Amino acid sequence: MIDMPDSTIPVIAIDGPSASGKGTVAQRVARELGYHYLDSGAIYRIAALAALKRGISWQDETTLAEMAAHLNIRFSAADIYLDNEAITEAVRTEEISRGASEVAVHPALRQALLNLQQSFRKAPGLVADGRDMATVVFPDAQTKIFLTASAEVRAKRRYKQLMEKGNHANLADILQDLQTRDARDSQRSVAPLQKSEDAKLLETSQLSIEQAVKAVLDHSRAPTKD
Ligand code: DC
Repeated sequence: MIDMPDSTIPVIAIDGPSASGKGTVAQRVARELGYHYLDSGAIYRIAALAALKRGISWQDETTLAEMAAHLNIRFSAADIYLDNEAITEAVRTEEISRGASEVAVHPALRQALLNLQQSFRKAPGLVADGRDMATVVFPDAQTKIFLTASAEVRAKRRYKQLMEKGNHANLADILQDLQTRDARDSQRSVAPLQKSEDAKLLETSQLSIEQAVKAVLDHSRAPTKD
């Protein structure tokens, strides 16, 4: 295959808060277009899990950043490997959700994970989901979407997911947890969760997944960005 300069490889950046459904929507859009997919939240989750395994504190910015520069991560279909160990389920626990949000406040760690995230930009295109895809990692993305839903709707979606997996869950605790994470993700000093000015706002509280996928595809095909 001919190597294309990165800037000509299309990126659809989808940012938004926890449990907004952006992961599901982003994966379906990627499948529809035959594009690659980057779950940048998974990278912060891997960093939190790797730190836990190595006895590194989620508050220790310098050591976390050094660790992140040498992470041995592999994504293979739907599975994630750290040092050749499958950690697909291990990064989805509530503890690691909290850890990912805590390690993500450190600028040095974010910097150490930047190249890794940008390396996912490969032909024919990339759908990237996270918090700062449109603002920091792919500021030149051709399509920028800020996908959100009310905290109550997101908590209910997460609750349903957990119950379907047979896990015990409490709706009030989930809502509280989401609000704590939203606050930390939006108030941190570096790359806070924020709608980029040139991103399209997609409020999905009243939309099905199919409708949200269609809205992203329509926007990506529209001649202008708003
Ligand atoms: O999307 P997620 O819930 O898997 O992300 C887990 C945490 O990682 C989230 O609370 C904040 C952090 N994160 C980030 O800071 N920047 C990103 N681009 C993606 C995730």
